[in-house]
Amino acid sequence: MDQNIKIVRTERTLRGRIWEWRGHGDTIAFVPTMGALHEGHLTLVRLAKKKASRVVVSIFVNPTQFAPGEDFEAYPRVEKQDVAMLKAEGVDLVYIPKDGSMYNAHHATKITLGGVALGLETAHRPTFFDGVALIVTKLLNRVMPDIAIFGEKDFQQLATIRRLVEDLDMPIKIVGAPIARDKHGLALSSRNKYFDENGLKVARRLNEIMRLCALKMEKGENVDVARNIATKALLSAGFSAVDYIEVRSPNSLTVLEGGVLNKRARLLVAAHCEGVRLIDNCAVKPPKKT
Ligand code: PAJ
Repeated sequence: MDQNIKIVRTERTLRGRIWEWRGHGDTIAFVPTMGALHEGHLTLVRLAKKKASRVVVSIFVNPTQFAPGEDFEAYPRVEKQDVAMLKAEGVDLVYIPKDGSMYNAHHATKITLGGVALGLETAHRPTFFDGVALIVTKLLNRVMPDIAIFGEKDFQQLATIRRLVEDLDMPIKIVGAPIARDKHGLALSSRNKYFDENGLKVARRLNEIMRLCALKMEKGENVDVARNIATKALLSAGFSAVDYIEVRSPNSLTVLEGGVLNKRARLLVAAHCEGVRLIDNCAVKPPKKT
């Protein structure tokens, strides 16, 4: 095993290294990221290490998944710090594509998604998953890993990528990693850096209110009643807006019938606090039959 992490900036060098590893019979796990790494990303890296003999992490702030007015320019870029963290985890290769090498001046191909990618995030960020699908396809085509790991934190993103890979016949296993949280339950995110002390206090209520909502449904509360209570609770906790709090089937993300839950589901939420948009989700079980 190489002791040193390799930083690769060109597609050619990346393909060369992967080719070499393949020749030695290595298996490859890949973790795509946009950098500004935190413990949440590192849990994906640790899972990758368990699953394959070589681990590749990419760092690329993908312009096509940001809408005008979103934080593309302001998105934190801390390459040195990221590389040091990945080195400490024993990552083999960090792929940091040079500016302009992902989308050249002639790039004209788009990916349009349906099904799991519709609603929820897409209702508020209409082109977000098209941009994610495009970059993930390009990265998977360049790295050609055996497995790729994505966090359940971005639950709809994970479901979308599972669909994408199946629909486009990519021979890659997609693995979901559990949500990493701080000790107050707040899902770790690169955007948590934007909060002041009060914002952090408010943000930490998201998970608590979401879990309470799930618990109510598990105890037999009507889904819509529980969702309405949670929306009010979020607004009075200090969130400025709630984009959605929805209950969907856990794999296809289809809308479930109203009333009391009669099967396993996923509760997904997006809310705004101090100009930061937070998302979270958790599993919900149907009430026990008595
Ligand atoms: P990014 O936000 O950097 O996240 C990279 C990966 O880390 C994603 O799979 C995300 O779900 C996971 N992740 C982030 N925070 C997490 C947490 N608290 N617990 C578990 N996993 C967490 O998601 C993206 O980048 C981009 O859309 C990308 C897939 C790289 C395409 O550009």
